[in-house]
Amino acid sequence: MTDAVQGDVPRHVAIIMDGNGRWARQRGLARIKGHERGAESIRAVLRACREFGVKYLTLYAISIENWIRPKPEVKALMNLLVRFLRQEAKELHDNKIRLRTIGRTEDLPKQVRKELLKVIDETSGYTGQHLTLALSYGGRMEIAQAARQLAELVKSGKLEPEQIDENAVAAQLYEPELPDPDLLIRTSGEMRVSNFLLWQISYAELYVTDVLWPDFGEKEFAGAIEDYRSRDRRFGGHE
Ligand code: IPE
Ligand code: IPE
Ligand code: MG
Repeated sequence: MTDAVQGDVPRHVAIIMDGNGRWARQRGLARIKGHERGAESIRAVLRACREFGVKYLTLYAISIENWIRPKPEVKALMNLLVRFLRQEAKELHDNKIRLRTIGRTEDLPKQVRKELLKVIDETSGYTGQHLTLALSYGGRMEIAQAARQLAELVKSGKLEPEQIDENAVAAQLYEPELPDPDLLIRTSGEMRVSNFLLWQISYAELYVTDVLWPDFGEKEFAGAIEDYRSRDRRFGGHE
């Protein structure tokens, strides 16, 4: 749960960045061109978060299911990730942005992991803004690995089964320090969560826009924030 009240700017925004392929197809371009333009949208949204005072931004970049895509597309996505990390390093340092990842990052190619770990390490002391990339991420996988870790703790006598409550489960998620998202945005109109942050979004406000991710910028972000601020968050209470 979060302590945000109605009218506040969300503390944590999570985004399912969808529609890169459609954006490219509409222009007769290769899908990777859509992914490239999508990287520009990340830059714009990161800046917009700063302007609006949104401290936490979590982006669904690659799902655990996305590995079934054709090899050339997967390879292009990996190259793009490395390029993004190199190009954004200065922005992250200048603005004291801490980078984290969630997901099975062990699935990423070695070189990509190396680049990632370097930036994660270099920015680990920053608290200006928090950028989290979901890479090879699956919500069910995250919960399953939390269950496995709890079982290990019980097995080794460090935890009693009776002590397993919501907090105990949450503590075994990939980045337990992150607050739950207040607002979940999905671009390109699909009304589904596609295995993203299943545990953490239990009380997130949902915002789906038809705008494709490469066309999503500061103006669209402002629209989502405005919509969020008009919501009446009840958390199970009454009006
Ligand atoms: C989102 O765009 C980016 C990733 C999933 C990596 P898509 O590639 O899913 O684009 P569409 O949904 O096919 O348009
Ligand atoms: C969700 O988009 C994953 C990311 C944005 C990384 P997908 O395009 O993979 O999701 P589905 O297949 O439409 O559910
Ligand atoms: Mg898609």
